[in-house]
Amino acid sequence: MSKLVPAIRSGDVLMPALGFGTWQLENGTAVPLVEKALAVGYRHIDTAQIYGNERDVGAGIRNSGVKRDEIFLTTKVWIDKFHDGDLQRSAEKSLEKLGVDHVDLLLLHWPKPEAPLAETLKALNEVQSRGLTRAIGLSNFPSALLEEAAKLSEAPIANDQVEYHPYLSIKTLKAKADALGVSITAWSPLAQGKVAQDPVLVEIGRAHGKTPGQVTLRWIIQQGIIAIPRTKNPARIEENFDILDFALSDDEMTRIHALARPDGRLGDWLDKAYAWDAE
Ligand SMILES: NC(=O)c1ccc[n+]([C@@H]2O[C@H](COP(=O)([O-])OP(=O)(O)OC[C@H]3O[C@@H](n4cnc5c(N)ncnc54)[C@H](OP(=O)(O)O)[C@@H]3O)[C@@H](O)[C@H]2O)c1
Repeated sequence: MSKLVPAIRSGDVLMPALGFGTWQLENGTAVPLVEKALAVGYRHIDTAQIYGNERDVGAGIRNSGVKRDEIFLTTKVWIDKFHDGDLQRSAEKSLEKLGVDHVDLLLLHWPKPEAPLAETLKALNEVQSRGLTRAIGLSNFPSALLEEAAKLSEAPIANDQVEYHPYLSIKTLKAKADALGVSITAWSPLAQGKVAQDPVLVEIGRAHGKTPGQVTLRWIIQQGIIAIPRTKNPARIEENFDILDFALSDDEMTRIHALARPDGRLGDWLDKAYAWDAE
C-alpha cells in the first residue's frame, strides 16, 4: 500500500491530509518537535498567532533543511485582529515571526460578531491578493456561517478547521463543506489523548497491529478529512505518521462513527451569538 500522504483538494490548493499540530508547544519546545516531524515525513504544520510559537515553528522549519515550498504551513488570525487594517498588520507580523514570505493557509481562528464578517473577509482577501498567503479559510465556523462566509468572500474559502474525533459528529458541516468545495481539518483529532483508552478503538487496532491513536487518525483521513495531531513525544510523532499502510473496513468505519455522543465536544468556546450544528 502507498506510503504517500493523500492530498486533499481545498479551494484552489492541495493540503496534505496529515499535519503536525503545535498548540501548547511553548517556550521553545516547538523547535525540535517541528524539526522531528519534518524529518519523519510530515509536510504540513499548523500554528496560530495565539499559540505564541510562530517564531519557534519557523526555526524548526529552517533547522529541518526541508525546502519551504515542500511544506504546507498554516497560521490563524486571532479574534482581536478582525478589523480592516488590524488583520493585514497581524498577517505581516506572523510572516515576520515565522521568517517566511508567505504562508499556505491563513484562517480566522474563531467566528466573532464584533467585526462584520464582510469587513474581515475583505481584509483576508486583500492579504491573499498581496501574496502573503496562498489560500484563506476559517476555523470553528458552523455550516450556516461557513455558507455566509463563502458567499461574502471573493476568493474561495479553502478550509474550515473544527474539532473532530470519534466522540463528535460533524455530518451537517461536512455535507455543506463538500457542496462548497471546502476541505475540513480536524483539530483535537485524538480527543486530546482520550482515544487511547477506548475499548472499541483498542479492539480494532489489535486486528491491524495499530494503536487506538493510529486507528483514529486513519478513520479521519479515510473520510477525506485532514488530521493535525499534536504530541511532545518524539516516538508518538512517528506513531501518528505511521497510518498509511493499512485501511479500515466499512464495518470498522461505522463502528467508530457510532462512538459519537451528545456531550463529546471538548472545546466549546463558540461566541454565544452563534450555534453549533446539531450533528
Ligand atoms: N482551530 C482551533 O481552534 C484549534 C483548537 C485546538 C487545537 N487546534 C490544533 O489542533 C492540534 C491538535 O489538537 P490538540 O492538540 O488539542 O489535541 P490532540 O492532537 O487530539 O491530542 C493531543 C494530546 O494527545 C496526546 N497524544 C498524542 N499522540 C498520541 C497517541 N498516539 N496516543 C495517545 N495519546 C496521544 C498528547 O500527549 P503527549 O504530548 O504526551 O504525547 C496530547 O496530550 C493542535 O495542536 C492545534 O494545532 C486547533
